[in-house]
Amino acid sequence: MSKKHQTLGEFIIENQQAFPYSSGELSRLINSIRLAAKVVNHEVNKAGLVDITGAAGDTNVQGEQQQKLDVYANQKFIQTLTNREIVCGIASEENDEYITIQGHNNDHKNKYVVLMDPLDGSSNIDVNVSVGTIFSVYRRVTPVGTPVTMEDFLQPGNLQVAAGYIIYGTSTMLVYTTGHGVNGFTLNPAIGTYYLSHPNMKFSEDGNIYSINEGNYAQFPQGVKDYLKYCQADEGDRPYTSRYIGSLVSDIHRNMIKGGIYIYPSSSKYPDGKLRLLYECNPMAFLAEQAGGKASDGFKRIMDIKPNELHERAPFFCGSKNMVEKAEEFMQKAKTK
Ligand code: AHG
Ligand code: MN
Ligand code: MN
Repeated sequence: MSKKHQTLGEFIIENQQAFPYSSGELSRLINSIRLAAKVVNHEVNKAGLVDITGAAGDTNVQGEQQQKLDVYANQKFIQTLTNREIVCGIASEENDEYITIQGHNNDHKNKYVVLMDPLDGSSNIDVNVSVGTIFSVYRRVTPVGTPVTMEDFLQPGNLQVAAGYIIYGTSTMLVYTTGHGVNGFTLNPAIGTYYLSHPNMKFSEDGNIYSINEGNYAQFPQGVKDYLKYCQADEGDRPYTSRYIGSLVSDIHRNMIKGGIYIYPSSSKYPDGKLRLLYECNPMAFLAEQAGGKASDGFKRIMDIKPNELHERAPFFCGSKNMVEKAEEFMQKAKTK
């Protein structure tokens, strides 16, 4: 059982038996993520000091301009994950194609694939607002001893063995699940140690925060428009509070602690929504469900979607269970009208 004041290292060792397959590899994988997160955290904290922000000149797969810290975070996570004999492949928002990791003896013996958004909310760096890292972990489906294939990455979210995020905020936190609830660890930067600060995190069943980029209202599907009017109505415990940072990790983190719903719907500009299924929606959905919440594309469970492409997008409704179900009700009603 989790104890307050426990370090992340202690927690990983104590809970290793509860991990699937329990060979210790997944523990080592989480360990390497916490290490990379410390390095990235150090760099993110310096962003205002040195001329490190701003566009790196490259454009990523989504046609978005890359910030230098995106590239840096991507490199650090790839390096750290590659240096250990655990991961056989990595897919990242910042790489068009997946990366094959052969392992030290070129024997392709490693068992896990990692999919990640190395720096989420990166447009917020220039204005000193929290950013994050999101990761999703699967066991490979192709035989050990052969190079990874696309099949290993295109697994539905319900097969994830671990997922989490790091939030580089007023404090830096690592929040993750291995399918046994959600735990949050806060970094003490003075000594570089993460402590269990948020054991067994839960989304309250109901909430009173809704988070959506309402500037796009005119382009939203009718069901979302109707749900927003419901959130804003002066009835019962409503109107709800509107909070939107524009940094998925921060918006979800706040809503998980306070109770709320995050929505990035389809729109005329983004017919499938903006967020990426494999390294934004799925890991957040796994965390949400493990915290008693819900994640949907407006009609069906996010984690049951069978992916077709590495960088595909999905509409995303995530948060307190009753709020997501209410939003789905409005989506359904508008569809059948
Ligand atoms: P990224 O920085 O990895 O490209 O992700 C940005 C995402 C997500 O963090 C955020 O919730 C969303 O984009 C904000 O989009 P809008 O500016 O369209 O609201
Ligand atoms: Mn992102
Ligand atoms: Mn990103």
